[in-house]
Amino acid sequence: MSEINWAALQQAAQQAAAQAYAPYSKFPVGVAILADSGKIYTGCNVENASYGGTVCAERNAIGAAVVAGERKFTALMVYTPQDMLTPPCGICRQVIAEFFSPNAPIASCNHLHQQQNWSLGELLPAAFTPTYLANSTKVGA
Ligand code: THU
Repeated sequence: MSEINWAALQQAAQQAAAQAYAPYSKFPVGVAILADSGKIYTGCNVENASYGGTVCAERNAIGAAVVAGERKFTALMVYTPQDMLTPPCGICRQVIAEFFSPNAPIASCNHLHQQQNWSLGELLPAAFTPTYLANSTKVGA
């Protein structure tokens, strides 16, 4: 766990959104995640001409943190320059559940500096986590 500076997370997520590569959707997204180490990592969405190749800002931020050696995270902030506050998509919720605890705050902010917080458990109840694999009885193996 790390002390959460929400203003710093909002600013980092907004800066990340400015780097978004979103020529198809024109829907830039920036994400900032706070590691238990106290460091902040960021990601933006990176789209592809083969649309299914698009990677969301959340997964790019988590990848950047993992390659830096991080494994545990305190909070996640999404920024979109929209009136509506955007929560992570379903695929990203699953990836977030790999590294964040169910009570971790997952927040969204916008160009009006509004912010909404959820817990990961609210966004993805009954998540499939590594625990299920660890407790597998390996039937059929
Ligand atoms: N997107 C994200 O980066 N994160 C989300 O949680 C929602 C969707 C991106 C993917 C795509 O580049 C664009 O937003 C429109 O779906």
